[in-house]
Amino acid sequence: MPRFPDVSAASESLSTGVFSQLGARARALTAAGRRLYPLHVGDTWMEPPEGARAQAQRTSEHPGLHQYAPVHGLPELLTAIARRLDRLGHPVDKARLQVVSGATSGLSIIAEALLDPGDEVLLPAPFWPLIRGIIAKRGATPVQVPLWDRLDALDVEATLEAARSPRTVAIYLNSPHNPTGRVLPPDVVDAVVRFARRHQLWVIVDEAYQDLYFDATPVPIWAREDLRDRYVACHTLSKSYGLAGARVGYVHGCEAAMKAISAVQAFSTYCAPKPMQVAAIAALDEGDEFLARRRAEFGEAGRRTAALLGLPPPEGGTFLFFDASPYLPEGATDAMPFLERALDAGVMLTPGVSCGEAYARWVRICFTSLPLDEHDQALAALATALRR
Ligand SMILES: Cc1ncc(COP(=O)(O)O)c(C=O)c1O
Repeated sequence: MPRFPDVSAASESLSTGVFSQLGARARALTAAGRRLYPLHVGDTWMEPPEGARAQAQRTSEHPGLHQYAPVHGLPELLTAIARRLDRLGHPVDKARLQVVSGATSGLSIIAEALLDPGDEVLLPAPFWPLIRGIIAKRGATPVQVPLWDRLDALDVEATLEAARSPRTVAIYLNSPHNPTGRVLPPDVVDAVVRFARRHQLWVIVDEAYQDLYFDATPVPIWAREDLRDRYVACHTLSKSYGLAGARVGYVHGCEAAMKAISAVQAFSTYCAPKPMQVAAIAALDEGDEFLARRRAEFGEAGRRTAALLGLPPPEGGTFLFFDASPYLPEGATDAMPFLERALDAGVMLTPGVSCGEAYARWVRICFTSLPLDEHDQALAALATALRR
């Protein structure tokens, strides 16, 4: 049946409504000359390591810099990725690596490779807002399972069992976690893995914050022996190295998945941006000191943010997530009155509902988008919104 002028049902489900309401108010405030502190997006303020910046890449040193790269990725970058994973103590065979255009693209490619329209994916909530749409645009159903904010009160396996259906094919895990700032506890991951193995599910592991942890170095979920046969992991250089605009990441996983993933990659972006693949080599090879500095500064910003909000300090990532109920007027059904008050005080925050439908009264805050002195100014502005 012709559909014009309607668009696909999958793309119609991709709503941006909550953000646009706050966006209009933010634009009006900016037009009136107000400074707004951007604590809503997950960007980071530090410029990348020098050799990894766009301006450091030269056609004189890299002939063909602006030509297509091989679909799998530049061989030198694949070697640098393998070298770094090896250095971290978790070697991955180069043949099972696929370079992608950042984790957003990588996870879309994973969704296309592993899912069919009509499939269900268990999405423990709260979650990174875009993952819901990435699954939905494939025509699959993201099944939201409120979990990470209530681990003390829930039996993880029983909760996942209750959310599963015969159409469930995968579960998504992200650690360090956006938005809670937690590293998922090993006993919880044990329970998820037992569940996934029992029901023959794919386990999609999102490693966007692999280098941003503030306590002991966590063991990556994908490195578990009992996941070898059913994991796909997605990494990005966006968060680790301040390269969000570069659009470089990588995916690895078990053999069956990787064959499909490389095929889908060819039909998606063909290759990740070649000049930034070259830049990524420098980040991976020379960026360890930069990462240490980032962890120190972001950890401190996270602790100051948590202290203001009365939360435990974050263990990793770039966000904290809190229930805004104490700051809401009686009878409020969502966090909007607080979000608007924060905006009027100069601080942009993310509505918790974008991280899951159970979180209408919650709020996400980023602690890595500004240098510490400016972040302190943002926190002082936020403090006035918390008091009112
Ligand atoms: C958990 C998580 N996964 C993936 C991404 C996407 O990363 P990229 O910038 O590489 O597309 C983000 C970005 O915020 C994220 O928070």
